[in-house]
Amino acid sequence: MAHSAERTPTLTPGGHGRNHTAADDDVSKRLLDSAATLSYDPATEIDWDAPLEPGHYGLNPEWSTLYGTALWSEMTEEQRVVLTRHEVGSIMTTGIWFEMILQQMVLRDQYLKDPASAEFRFALTEIADECRHSIMFARACEKMGVPQYKPNQLVAQAGRAYKALARGELAYGGILVAEEVLDVMQRDWMRGENVLDIVRGTSRIHVVEESRHMKFARQEIRERLRGAGTLRRRNAAFGIAAGAYVIVTSMVHPSVYKAAGLDVARAVAEARASEHRRAMMRTSSRHLMAFLAENGLLTGASTTLYRRIHML
Ligand SMILES: [Fe+2]
Ligand SMILES: [Fe+2]
Repeated sequence: MAHSAERTPTLTPGGHGRNHTAADDDVSKRLLDSAATLSYDPATEIDWDAPLEPGHYGLNPEWSTLYGTALWSEMTEEQRVVLTRHEVGSIMTTGIWFEMILQQMVLRDQYLKDPASAEFRFALTEIADECRHSIMFARACEKMGVPQYKPNQLVAQAGRAYKALARGELAYGGILVAEEVLDVMQRDWMRGENVLDIVRGTSRIHVVEESRHMKFARQEIRERLRGAGTLRRRNAAFGIAAGAYVIVTSMVHPSVYKAAGLDVARAVAEARASEHRRAMMRTSSRHLMAFLAENGLLTGASTTLYRRIHML
């Protein structure tokens, strides 16, 4: 168990009122160096004027929520193309929503922290990355003709509460869940030969920059939980799992099926019951689940929630 192998923290100067060690700051320093070496400006990196390749999917068909269902086999090729474009657009819109939440949480977390520390500087670098990502996803959706798919009122308000209240390991746990789930999908999207160039390009940028964000989030979670008691760990475990539940169930909006001319109720039911979909979710969560287990964040209650959304 990694969390039992705790060091005696050597506190760094500069007003970090918690277990922030010199080793923690080294992680941030390396991430800053990496960001200086390899970062992208999507405004110039992507050819925004290129026409969409006709017949290309929005995401690899295997990542479609309906792939492998009876409904999928009845659909025309044209419907599959439209559906996958709306699905990827819906995931990107959810991405923007989540990036807004995490920018606020990180900004709040760094309030009045030492500007000389690598942690502070990397946190601000991450916010700048997310800001560019959201604009990039917004442009990609516009280009694909995908409307804004908003979460329902209840979920929207839950997100508002989470971003106003979540701190420490809860904030970075929510961030990590969203980033991990998206990462696995985008690694396939960026290599998909029959996937739109605009999706491949935006995915490549996102995968590269988010790999640093995930390292940062994991480090922050380890640091905040160092020496934490059972109750605090249990609460964090449940809060992060609840965040995961909301993220995973909100990713693809049911209206994408209407856009593809499908019966929404039937599509939702078949997607929900799809064994292929469940297997994809489990595969994409494997790495995240291993990290949560290592840090004592797979408790009975959180495991139940992860099973319900097929992340376990
Ligand atoms: Fe991002
Ligand atoms: Fe990120």
